[in-house]
Amino acid sequence: MKTQFYTATSLDGFIATENDSLEWLFPLGDLNASSYPAFIAEVGALAMGATTYEWMLRNADQVMAEAGSPWPYTQPTWIFTHRQLPLIEGADIRFVQGDVTSVHADMRAAAGDKNIWIVGGGDLAGQFHDAGLLDELILQVGSVTLGKGRPLFPRRVLTPVLQLQSVRQMGTTMVELRYDIIKVSATA
Ligand SMILES: NC(=O)c1ccc[n+]([C@@H]2O[C@H](COP(=O)([O-])OP(=O)(O)OC[C@H]3O[C@@H](n4cnc5c(N)ncnc54)[C@H](OP(=O)(O)O)[C@@H]3O)[C@@H](O)[C@H]2O)c1
Repeated sequence: MKTQFYTATSLDGFIATENDSLEWLFPLGDLNASSYPAFIAEVGALAMGATTYEWMLRNADQVMAEAGSPWPYTQPTWIFTHRQLPLIEGADIRFVQGDVTSVHADMRAAAGDKNIWIVGGGDLAGQFHDAGLLDELILQVGSVTLGKGRPLFPRRVLTPVLQLQSVRQMGTTMVELRYDIIKVSATA
């Protein structure tokens, strides 16, 4: 029952270009040959920010071609936004804003004994981390650099350092790094 930030990133720490393109990512590997199928099978609830959701809105045709539906997730999903955004047909989503803590409690209740996936972006994952709610970073690091773009995790995490749990090479274009986040207890 973990809260996980699972994402692909460039080698220099960007999850999208500055204009929210993911075109650099798709040639790097096949999602179905990655850890994704096993990962998503254990997810019971998702959270994403407005920009990530808007990418799904803009690329509904591409998502449809790959997943057979404009919304590829069956799990309940929480979208963080201050705006009124259109609904994607068939998506089990709710729009929320503000502090992530109460939303996380609702997600935990919905997920049951499954994991919570923070889809992105990096600052939203950081908000869960700030609240002491993030357990794991699972990063598919692509063999490309972007120079600038949307940051992977715009936080300073120095101590306790992240604990590397596994390294999995996927050909010559990707490596998956799994890190546990060590929580500092309130009394420490
Ligand atoms: N490489 C990958 O695997 C991967 C994974 C995920 C995402 N992505 C891409 O990376 C980019 C991420 O974009 P991003 O960094 O801008 O992050 P984002 O989290 O998708 O969107 C940020 C926006 O979410 C809203 N938001 C965030 N926290 C909020 C809160 N607590 N309450 C209310 N609203 C909140 C705000 O939008 P408003 O105030 O405007 O509503 C904020 O500007 C997207 O292009 C996405 O497609 C890539």
